[in-house]
Amino acid sequence: MKIADSIESLTNAITQWREQGLSIAFVPTMGNLHAGHISLVKEARLKCDRVVVSIYVNPLQFNEASDFAAYPQTLSEDQNKLGSAQTDLLFLPNNEIIYPDGQASISKVSVPVLSDILEGECRPGHFDGVATVVNKLFNLVRPDIAFFGLKDYQQLLVIKKMVNDLNMPVQVVSMPTQREADGLAMSSRNSRLTSEQRTQAGQLYKVLIWLADECKTTTESIAQLEQRAMSRLDEAGFQPEYVSLRDALSLQSVDHPEGEVIALAAARLGDVRLIDNLILK
Ligand code: PAJ
Repeated sequence: MKIADSIESLTNAITQWREQGLSIAFVPTMGNLHAGHISLVKEARLKCDRVVVSIYVNPLQFNEASDFAAYPQTLSEDQNKLGSAQTDLLFLPNNEIIYPDGQASISKVSVPVLSDILEGECRPGHFDGVATVVNKLFNLVRPDIAFFGLKDYQQLLVIKKMVNDLNMPVQVVSMPTQREADGLAMSSRNSRLTSEQRTQAGQLYKVLIWLADECKTTTESIAQLEQRAMSRLDEAGFQPEYVSLRDALSLQSVDHPEGEVIALAAARLGDVRLIDNLILK
């Protein structure tokens, strides 16, 4: 596995591959890799001739300095995992490469409406930070296909809309959420949970499954169902931020749990913020 820590070394490798007519897959990450990330890398391996992964903890998308500071960094373990998954190139940019004139003066990409609801409401500016860095990474790597997890469902929709709106020449492929045995969605933030919180954490997905089941039979309103799901999370020891049933394409509110509907939730255990979602069948 090649490692590129400058734009020049990245561009050299990409240009060479392009001249050889090879297709390029890209998996952007923030590191502290787990089986969810690796599932994206494995799919990328199947789809293209060359696989590029980036690790960059993007300060522009963090709205809490403490969350950014606590973000786990495990570079040597990550390198081993990526090597085993047959990654061709690991791009490791730093802040000087991504924001040479500082974050404050960077030109930004903003995806309206989608970026302002749910996660965007709880984390103002978050999706502008995501869209901006992903746009930059796409321009540097110039991939044919980029892979994203359904775990971050709203992020996936934001990226797809950006690519579509701006006619970016990349195909966006989504992959299912990888879970622990108790249903907890794998996440780099899980390692910050205490053992007691880790036991509680499995309830987040269980509440989404409960909500999906209730939708099949209930006579209650969507708002009542969402409120009951919030209470369940509260009783399980979470500080819930939202539980919401939404149209799966637009993420707008729905009156009835019919058609393509998704249940999304965000809740805190102590200072660790977890998100999850479940598409209703
Ligand atoms: P990060 O949280 O490291 O996630 C990188 C990719 O892995 C994202 O597409 C995410 O949805 C996917 N992923 C995370 N957990 C997963 C799981 N349990 N199952 C399947 N896929 C999972 O998302 C980001 O980084 C950043 O916002 C980024 C896109 C890199 C921009 O900075």
